[in-house]
Amino acid sequence: MKGLRPYAEDTMKKLTVNAGNSYEIIIGAGSRYKIIDDIKEGSYVIITDSNVSSLYAERLFNELKKKARVSMIKFKAGEPSKTRQTKERIEDEMLRLGIGRDAKIIAFGGGVVGDVAGFVASTYKRGIPYIQLPTTLLAMVDSSVGGKTGVNTPEGKNLIGSFYQPERVYMDLDFLDSLSKNEFANGLAEMIKHAYIMDKSFFRFLEGSMGRIVKKDKETLAKAIHWSCRIKAGIVEKDEKEEGLRKLLNFGHSYGHAYETIMDYSIGHGEAVAAGMMMAAKTSAKLGLLKFDYIIRLRNLIDAAG
Ligand code: GLY
Repeated sequence: MKGLRPYAEDTMKKLTVNAGNSYEIIIGAGSRYKIIDDIKEGSYVIITDSNVSSLYAERLFNELKKKARVSMIKFKAGEPSKTRQTKERIEDEMLRLGIGRDAKIIAFGGGVVGDVAGFVASTYKRGIPYIQLPTTLLAMVDSSVGGKTGVNTPEGKNLIGSFYQPERVYMDLDFLDSLSKNEFANGLAEMIKHAYIMDKSFFRFLEGSMGRIVKKDKETLAKAIHWSCRIKAGIVEKDEKEEGLRKLLNFGHSYGHAYETIMDYSIGHGEAVAAGMMMAAKTSAKLGLLKFDYIIRLRNLIDAAG
């Protein structure tokens, strides 16, 4: 425990991603307070949405205000906000506030916030640093790591964007307590994906621990999130710009993005990816590329994850 802040630094898991500027991921309960301790001075813009409790956002804002120049910009939560228009509104607001090149963005929210805020950071005054503070499991295991930023267009998901790595990622496990069962399961789908494409022992670990994970046992969750991020980081380090290997991370996403688009985003991303992974696995089996047994195990794990 450090000072009055409720986190235990020595129990936090850390991981370095050697892509772009080489950055650290910090995983542990209460790490949203660590970010406050780590920041000493400077200029910051918190970008968040209406899903993030105002209590959390105000607290971060007020604590940072004691030592840095800080502004906060909020937009309406949800996939429909992931647009060029939202990016433009944020940029105009930052310009109006006189935010300079010395500023850093803090992306505080789920995947939509991280993707939009990261995209703003990548082009604002030709690029300023950003820090990811993800609040959903999906954002922790997938979108906050690897530097894919972007927005959707009526033609499809993530068609406009950039590869732009964050400066740091803080994953606070306490945020997971308030996630709905569906929102939590969205993140589990991406975790299962990482295991299935890359790491048999992680897949076996998930098969054996899914009961504890869905009960949100913090120790098991921390291990699973760390493992999942390690797999993703390993891929991103080898192929940051998705010229080959990183395409593996799109497993289940061709079908998944199609489901999301035709259903007008009325289903969750993880839900779409889970269905997409099953379709892709069945296609592979039909082509004689995957043993039937692996489809059953995938389906069982997806079922166990809810
Ligand atoms: N979400 C897939 C990737 O980051 O490549």
